[in-house]
Amino acid sequence: MAPDPNQIPAPMITEEQLQERVAVMARQVVDLVGPQPILVSLLKGAFMFTADLLRELGRIGAKPHLDFMRVSSYGSGTVSSGQVEVLLDIKEDIRGKSVVVVDDILDTGNTLKAVSDLLKSKGASQVRSCMLLDKPARRTADVTPDIVGFEIPDAFVVGYGIDWDNRFRELPYVGVVKE
Ligand code: IMP
Ligand code: MG
Repeated sequence: MAPDPNQIPAPMITEEQLQERVAVMARQVVDLVGPQPILVSLLKGAFMFTADLLRELGRIGAKPHLDFMRVSSYGSGTVSSGQVEVLLDIKEDIRGKSVVVVDDILDTGNTLKAVSDLLKSKGASQVRSCMLLDKPARRTADVTPDIVGFEIPDAFVVGYGIDWDNRFRELPYVGVVKE
């Protein structure tokens, strides 16, 4: 089903809560992998979170590297296909390095599992994860996130980079839509 263009998503996590939490998460990234983290951000959903996380890392004196991957997502539906296709791959040489996967939502865990396996196959010594949102109720893949911003219930959320059929990414807060 396509989203109702007039729908205004009901706020779940405010702009202020996001900013405050992302600052804490930046410190957690440094505690986890040190002051020169290599971030692998998953497009498109994580772009806004990644931008804020990167600025916070800079503020605390870290020297992060940033690369992007894009993997197939839900399209216009709201149910995971369970299949992950790489549409854009990283360019950084990660052999022997610790990398941190940065994503918007940990849902079934299929995406994080597939991306982690891929980064390990490229020679990363360690693959960690920093997820803005976690829906633990929906997990099917065997993955445990290292850093989580907010645990949320099983609802379809949008905003702060996260879309529904490419809508609502521009919202400064995370909200819930009626499907
Ligand atoms: P997973 O592979 O099932 O863990 O799904 C992770 C990806 O599914 C996230 O990076 C999102 O792109 C997408 N996703 C999961 N839940 C939602 C949601 O509530 N709103 C929008 N996208 C979602
Ligand atoms: Mg995504």
